Amino acid sequence: MTNPLIAPSILAADFSHLNEALVAVDNAGADWIHVDVMDGHFVPNLTFGPPVIKAIRDSTKLPFDVHLMIEKPELSIEQYAKAGADRITVHAEACPHLHRTLSQITECGAKSGVALNPSTPASAIDHVLHLTDMVLVMTVNPGFGGQAYIPTMLDKIRAIRNKAEELGLSDLHIQVDGGISATTIAEVAQAGADVFVAGSAIFKSQDYAQTIAQMRQLATL
Ligand code: DX5
Ligand code: ZN
Repeated sequence: MTNPLIAPSILAADFSHLNEALVAVDNAGADWIHVDVMDGHFVPNLTFGPPVIKAIRDSTKLPFDVHLMIEKPELSIEQYAKAGADRITVHAEACPHLHRTLSQITECGAKSGVALNPSTPASAIDHVLHLTDMVLVMTVNPGFGGQAYIPTMLDKIRAIRNKAEELGLSDLHIQVDGGISATTIAEVAQAGADVFVAGSAIFKSQDYAQTIAQMRQLATL
């Protein structure tokens, strides 16, 4: 993996001007738009669902990378795909039938991802790695933007990258999410991540284009 992808998280954008926020990060060089869906149960915060995603979908042509922090995602995957999600990531902790749920995402025409909370070991997904396009290693406990990055997740990123290589899955994306900034991005890239979600680091910066370019450079190995 040599091409780092930067995915601004709109959780940190101004919710009263979401369309403008998407246009701004698109113009600033973002690769994907990271969309955080929270249900107030799986995580202690509530954001938005398919209608809002549909309403902002046409602001940009960039892929919508939808991170479902919700219980029972299998009940609404199709709605997210129809609302315009190009990629749908579910949490391993929320999916007793993860193998089936990943297939369900693919059948809806989206790329699948599986996310791991900080306390969930890499080995929890060994048997589904070949079924997914991406693993999301949470580098904070999900629920809120602006939290401090947990450096012990580096070992987990390395373990997943090694396992993927062992299985011949050279195209597997490893995404990191939480506390990613110009300060932390180089070490997660060196550990094997290639997709970098950043909320506060981008939306709280003065110059989105400069921040994205700097992060991309620091993540380029
Ligand atoms: C946290 C979300 C993240 C969040 C990251 O639960 O999944 O995507 O927006 O925000 P920062 O980059 O501010 O840590
Ligand atoms: Zn996220």
